[in-house]
Amino acid sequence: MALALWLGSLLSSCWQNLSILGVFLTVFTLVLDFMKRRKKWSRYPPGPVSLPFIGTMLHVDFRRPHVSFRQFHKKFGNVFNLQNCWTNVVVLNGYQTVKDALVHKSEDFADRPYFPVYEHLGYGSKSEGIIVAKYGPIWKELRRFTLSTLRNFGMGKKSLEERVTEEAGFLCSAVESEEGKPFDLRFLVNNAVCNVICTTVYGERFNYGDETFKMMLHLFESSLNEETGFLPQLLNVLPILLRIPGVPQMVFRGQKVFMDFIDVLIEKHMETWNPAHIRDFTDVFLTEMKKGKEAEERGFNYNNLRLVTADLFIAGSETTSTTLRWAFLYMLLHPEIQSKVQAEIDKVIGKEKPPTMKDQVSMPYTNAVIHEVQRCGDIVPVGLPHMTYRDTEVQGFFIPKGTTVITNLSSVLKDETVWEKPNEFYPEHFLDANGQFVKPEAFLPFSAGRRACPGEQLARMELFIFFTTLMQKFTFALPEDQPRPWEDGHFALTNAPHPYLIRAVPR
Ligand code: HEM
Ligand SMILES: *[C@@H]1O[C@H](CO)[C@@H](O)[C@H](O)[C@H]1NC(C)=O
Repeated sequence: MALALWLGSLLSSCWQNLSILGVFLTVFTLVLDFMKRRKKWSRYPPGPVSLPFIGTMLHVDFRRPHVSFRQFHKKFGNVFNLQNCWTNVVVLNGYQTVKDALVHKSEDFADRPYFPVYEHLGYGSKSEGIIVAKYGPIWKELRRFTLSTLRNFGMGKKSLEERVTEEAGFLCSAVESEEGKPFDLRFLVNNAVCNVICTTVYGERFNYGDETFKMMLHLFESSLNEETGFLPQLLNVLPILLRIPGVPQMVFRGQKVFMDFIDVLIEKHMETWNPAHIRDFTDVFLTEMKKGKEAEERGFNYNNLRLVTADLFIAGSETTSTTLRWAFLYMLLHPEIQSKVQAEIDKVIGKEKPPTMKDQVSMPYTNAVIHEVQRCGDIVPVGLPHMTYRDTEVQGFFIPKGTTVITNLSSVLKDETVWEKPNEFYPEHFLDANGQFVKPEAFLPFSAGRRACPGEQLARMELFIFFTTLMQKFTFALPEDQPRPWEDGHFALTNAPHPYLIRAVPR
């Protein structure tokens, strides 16, 4: 009996201690949360009510986030705040607001938020590549290097345009071998666009049937998919989970293998590098690296070489190929526009001569169509996340240093105050009364300011040459037994068209 009493009192005191501990822990975490959460700045943008720990995440319907965002926009206006756990996020909508931030206050918005999940790929303080690099001297140096190399300085005998034109020829032959039967253009276009990056970066292209090439594309696709899953998102919020042995390897297996693949290509280059015969982007980078310690400090080190080249694949392939898929989809849906493009091609270039960039200036209609494809296709709807580099202000709202900023490019490309028919495919958006090409300032598919896409020139070249080469040789039609494809997109990392089949009828 005594024993039972004693045990009972022990248990109850233990229980008491536990509940005291519990209360203490709860209070402690709430205080921690309170301290970590944003202070009440005056003039901070409005937003939905933020709860402890989870912030405003419950207000967002994760299956249909755009619906929630539209409601916030309606309720709070062009600038509103969200809170993902302890991260302050500000969303900017509309041409004026986005331009104010990216163009007029370019440096204030030039930083990127930190993504812990990339650490295992070799991101470190002196090697961050370009896309997710912090704003600073190393990013600046690598970006400047990439821009000038892509502009063709010192990349060997073959110009970038020759490489794109050559690839357009291969793409044409592959489309021809489909013999006018229904097929999904996606795979061929993707091969061609990836090959442009391959020849730029590694100096060689692959045949579309090549096993190594197929493996690479497959790896690449699966590593992109790894980014959008639930686990990677969770790891970004709770990076401590990355410390569990095996977790990064498990979640990012594809990315790891893709990087290993890049390493093999780079090693081959290092063995055959010859300063008298520079072949490609990798060779130019190696040339910088050979300059020694000082160059390494500026960012030209091995880790950055693999990250920058991976960045070119990541940023340069899916974007361009998705845009081309939109282009042919719009041609299917608007045969009268297709005929006008073909008439202009026949008039300016003729039926045989391969298109060149010089032809572009004399082809206002085709140029307008390509721009309208980019505007309407709206393939990077919310751009890439930015982060404020210092305390700043937009449209009278205060945004503190270190805030994640989402620039809603979609709201600029479809801004009702700028475009006559924001939600229609209407090439006249880019033509004046005399049929001459004009580019409204709100055309920002490549974003703007210091972080604007450095691949724009290459992308423009690919879009023009691939599109006109195919339109010169084929008429694109909807197969008889196929339903009319959807005009709205299907949103993953980029806004892509729903899969569709097409017939390429030789002209
Ligand atoms: C139609 C094709 C393309 C579109 C629509 C596009 C769009 C964009 C956008 C919206 C950004 C984010 C800018 C920002 O943070 O505000 C970006 C960044 C970037 N793009 Fe592109 N892009 C395209 C093609 C390319 C190509 C072909 C390359 C390279 C070969 C490329 C390389 C990059 C890089 C390296 C960045 C990161 C820039 C930085 O953080 O400083 N892109 N692109
Ligand atoms: C961006 O703008 C588009 C068009 O105005 C809107 O539908 C979408 O919900 C906005 N997204 C965000 C994140 O605010």
